[in-house]
Amino acid sequence: MKRIGVLVSGRGSNFEALAESVASGRIPNSEIGIVISNRDGAPGIQRAEARGIKTRVIPSKGLEREIYDRQVAAVLNESKVDLICLAGYMRLLSPFFVAAFPNRILNIHPSLLPSFPGLESQRQALEYGVKFAGCTVHFVDENLDAGPIVLQAEVPVLDQDTEATLSEKILKEEHRIYSEAVKIVLEGKFKIEGRRVLRTN
Ligand code: GAR
Repeated sequence: MKRIGVLVSGRGSNFEALAESVASGRIPNSEIGIVISNRDGAPGIQRAEARGIKTRVIPSKGLEREIYDRQVAAVLNESKVDLICLAGYMRLLSPFFVAAFPNRILNIHPSLLPSFPGLESQRQALEYGVKFAGCTVHFVDENLDAGPIVLQAEVPVLDQDTEATLSEKILKEEHRIYSEAVKIVLEGKFKIEGRRVLRTN
């Protein structure tokens, strides 16, 4: 049985999608051991509580990055997690945190990286005028929205798309590929060569 730790800052729809996949066996032999939020009142925490999953709020306000990350790492270690999933966790991780969990942290980002890292990626994509947008699941390093890519999914950008409609289409794909990527990584069916994540059997 593999244990997943999920870090959220807000809505928590990607957490919910992962929880659903764990419950339905799409991510087999696993459980979500803990959900941690850096923000008090994050809806993601309520969603986790509603599912009877252990939660912790560790407020980040005013704390130096590494001091904060040490607190989070301690809770994750206590929960003995095998994999950490960032799910709308809006914080850059310290080198300490990244080194504490080598190749064991995944993030979902709402763009086809390396295009449009950072905030409001869907708006960035619309304003740039790309014809395809999408989302990326990648391993996390200490740089923003960087790290080897596990899976991507694309969605077409139509003339009538707004930030809201594009975000909705991308989110649907996020929910799908995040579970798929977690399954691949938990089953160890990959190897990393340089920046490339290659599938193995
Ligand atoms: C998602 O769209 C996720 O890709 C994005 O925040 C949203 C969180 O939604 N993450 C980033 O932008 C990370 N750089 P959720 O709380 O409903 O999962």
